[in-house]
Amino acid sequence: MKIKFSKDFLWGTAISGPQSEGALDKPHESIMDFWYKQNPEDFHNQVGPEVTSNMYLQYREDIEIMKQLKLNSYRTSIQWTRLIKDFETGEPDLKAVAFYRDYFKRVKESGIVISVNLFHFDMPIELQNIGGFENLHVVDLFVKYAETAFKEFGDLVDNWITFNEPVVPIEGGYLYKWYYPKIVDFKRGIQAGYYTILAHSRTVKTFKKMFANDSNKQISIVLNLTPAYPKDNSPENMEAAKIRDLIFNKSFLDPVVKGEFPKELIALFKSENILPIYTKEELKDIKENIIDFLEVNYYQPSRIQSRITPFEGQIMPEKWFENYEWAERRINPHRGWEINPKTLYEIAKDIQQNYNNFKWLVTENGMGVENEHLFKDETGQVQDDYRIDFIKEHLYWLNKAIEEGSSCFGYQMWTFIDCWSWANSYKNRYGLVELDLKTQKRIIKKSGFWFKEMIENGKEIEIEDNLIK
Ligand code: BG6
Repeated sequence: MKIKFSKDFLWGTAISGPQSEGALDKPHESIMDFWYKQNPEDFHNQVGPEVTSNMYLQYREDIEIMKQLKLNSYRTSIQWTRLIKDFETGEPDLKAVAFYRDYFKRVKESGIVISVNLFHFDMPIELQNIGGFENLHVVDLFVKYAETAFKEFGDLVDNWITFNEPVVPIEGGYLYKWYYPKIVDFKRGIQAGYYTILAHSRTVKTFKKMFANDSNKQISIVLNLTPAYPKDNSPENMEAAKIRDLIFNKSFLDPVVKGEFPKELIALFKSENILPIYTKEELKDIKENIIDFLEVNYYQPSRIQSRITPFEGQIMPEKWFENYEWAERRINPHRGWEINPKTLYEIAKDIQQNYNNFKWLVTENGMGVENEHLFKDETGQVQDDYRIDFIKEHLYWLNKAIEEGSSCFGYQMWTFIDCWSWANSYKNRYGLVELDLKTQKRIIKKSGFWFKEMIENGKEIEIEDNLIK
């Protein structure tokens, strides 16, 4: 069957500063730079964040490839540790200003809608050392940083984003030890999560003041939504899935879109004495400063059952649920993540039905594959048909939701070019463009050309029957 998207639909890719630019010329270190120096063995093949995909030096060439691929939208992030020279005053580093201005200007002049994110897991180590987002002063410093970015690049950037996946640094840094500072403390994580939302809302507030006369400028946040499917319809499993959804999805989604935290979540945290410290004035800022549209990253759902083993030890979200392996699941063996394209449709329906059909777009979706050189043809091009099928399957369900009235206006892939990924480094490749890590040479993959043709063909896509499940 054929599916079609509207003429003005946004097609593009997303990436982040720390994962693509590298660390050259940065005046400060992020937690990732610091962590790598301390424990290089924590990183796949000990590849650290110093060079990554070298976009700091090769962005001009990369923008030419974006043009060649006909992409009409692009997201990246500014590195706090690059732009700001003095965290206390928000004074910028002039070299960084010149770099970002030229980068964004060239993207814009290429007719590509540019979205710029302010935080992609990359807390400056100096600020982490004073508590990161557990410290209210860091909230103020973040707003100062944002203000500097708005001043320096406000004329060039179309859409601003405060945070990418704000729940992830909480999961990685305060619960499951994926990322530095590898603390295990749910209560502290809740405080850091709450202050992240406050930093977001106060940034939105500043933005709205600064751009009050420019209705074309918009601000958003990127949330990774991981709907929780209960094992069955038993009341215990349904309740467990609901709690998982409250803690990992609605905790951020509700305040940024509705201006309020879910009452059931507040009651749950209160019953455990893990509510964060807050003031009425802060809640007012959260209430009054909602986003203009929502950005959603979707990779995989979660599969949930009530606890079958007794929960012991310090309080963790798993007090209320357990993950289980769904027998019919399809897994991307490289990343170990479930592939379930229909969930994208369900996310769209949830936003349509429970969030007043809030305007949104997909800002990350993609498939990380290891050893992609094994899929090269004789010309040296990665034949990533698996990625093309993955995209088609997801677009089928997204299109269905749009046909049914969902106000989704774009789809961005993770990612433009193979990029560095936190502790996984270059293990799983996601790009439409292959990166040769040794030579920094770029080669467009088959999926890149497929994406280009799809855009050129007026966004019409042929979906084979076997891909509709
Ligand atoms: C998203 C992040 O969660 O997933 C990206 O925003 C990340 O930064 C991407 O790279 C893919 O995850 P991973 O761990 O496979 O690189």
